[in-house]
Amino acid sequence: MAPTTASVANPRPASVPASVPVAVLGATGMVGQRMVQLLAKHPWLELACVAASQRSAGQIYSAATRWRLPGQCPPRAAGMRVLACSPDQIPAGVKIVLSALDSAVAGPIEDAFRAAGFAVLSNAANHRMDIDVPLVIPEVNPDHLALLDRRQTDGDPAAGFILANPNCCAIPTAMALAPLHERWPIQAAIVSTWQAVSGAGYPGESAWDMVGSVHPHPGNEEQKLTQEPQKILGLPGTPADFPISARCVRVPTAEGHLIGIHARLKGDPSPTDAAEALRTWTGKAPPLPSSPRPLVHLSTQRDRPATRFDVDAGDGMAITIGRIETCPILGIKLYVLAHNTIRGAAGAAILNAELLVLTRRI
Ligand SMILES: NC(=O)c1ccc[n+]([C@@H]2O[C@H](COP(=O)([O-])OP(=O)(O)OC[C@H]3O[C@@H](n4cnc5c(N)ncnc54)[C@H](OP(=O)(O)O)[C@@H]3O)[C@@H](O)[C@H]2O)c1
Repeated sequence: MAPTTASVANPRPASVPASVPVAVLGATGMVGQRMVQLLAKHPWLELACVAASQRSAGQIYSAATRWRLPGQCPPRAAGMRVLACSPDQIPAGVKIVLSALDSAVAGPIEDAFRAAGFAVLSNAANHRMDIDVPLVIPEVNPDHLALLDRRQTDGDPAAGFILANPNCCAIPTAMALAPLHERWPIQAAIVSTWQAVSGAGYPGESAWDMVGSVHPHPGNEEQKLTQEPQKILGLPGTPADFPISARCVRVPTAEGHLIGIHARLKGDPSPTDAAEALRTWTGKAPPLPSSPRPLVHLSTQRDRPATRFDVDAGDGMAITIGRIETCPILGIKLYVLAHNTIRGAAGAAILNAELLVLTRRI
């Protein structure tokens, strides 16, 4: 495989095998397609097979999938036969399963893969709040992988596990809050989102509901945003103890979720101090191919971050923060933007896979 920019900047450590095979469940959907696209140029991970529903199983991937991303479907994936989402379908040697399954069906399917001994890296909400499932952003809480180590010392090292990445708005929210929380513990936060239509999958919401309109998110997005950041920013197994109130709105943009955060921080830092903490934050992850440098792009323009200009920062893996200002009610407020199907979903699961491989948990 030709070296990518990431692999040149971030050479493969000797402990990482030349090629780690992975399966993608839900490969025909919006997030699954992103996984297939990102894996096509990945320096460590290699797409071994694609799986989806019985509607798609048996077909060639290019025929089963309505490719909805810019550019062509990667040729290797295009010719693969789609498998059913069953552990016995997965080729020998594959231990890592990336799940981009619809949450309506992900729960029992991911359970079956875990029971069969696979490492399941899930995008779905089903298991995120389970006590034994780490909810990890490698740059924020890599120490939460200790939950897997505890399970292994409990006597079953060969058993599979589920490692979840957070919701697509919880990821940028936690990334923006993490460097602040380290210095000035969060007392309370209010979060508002403006979420792109790709967040609803494909075909997602109807054109009639979206064109020329915005509306409150019809699902339980607000509940996820009031629980997941505390699990991420707490200790392994013990969520951080601060309340979040959230409002989530779907807007007619294609990619990128814009999030407004108002927070009360212990010590009441100035916007300048908060900006410096964010600007200098490099995160806690070891060097990983999908973790960008810089991790945070700070904008000083009044009208940024904006999805049009900032969504692809760091190849979609960086977050962009702007308008860090005094909030007269809670103390500090800011905007953060992230690419929802890359940093918020496919790239997040791939980053977790990289962390597992690098730390030899696979
Ligand atoms: N879109 C985002 O920005 C985003 C961000 C974060 C997290 N997520 C989460 O990621 C997951 C995927 O989201 P998405 O937007 O990619 O959804 P999507 O476009 O609707 O894709 C859903 C995928 O699940 C498969 N599937 C559906 N029913 C199945 C069944 N019974 N058995 C096996 N596979 C089945 C579909 O296969 P067929 O094509 O064969 O039907 C398709 O591959 C969801 O859990 C979502 O909540 C999405």
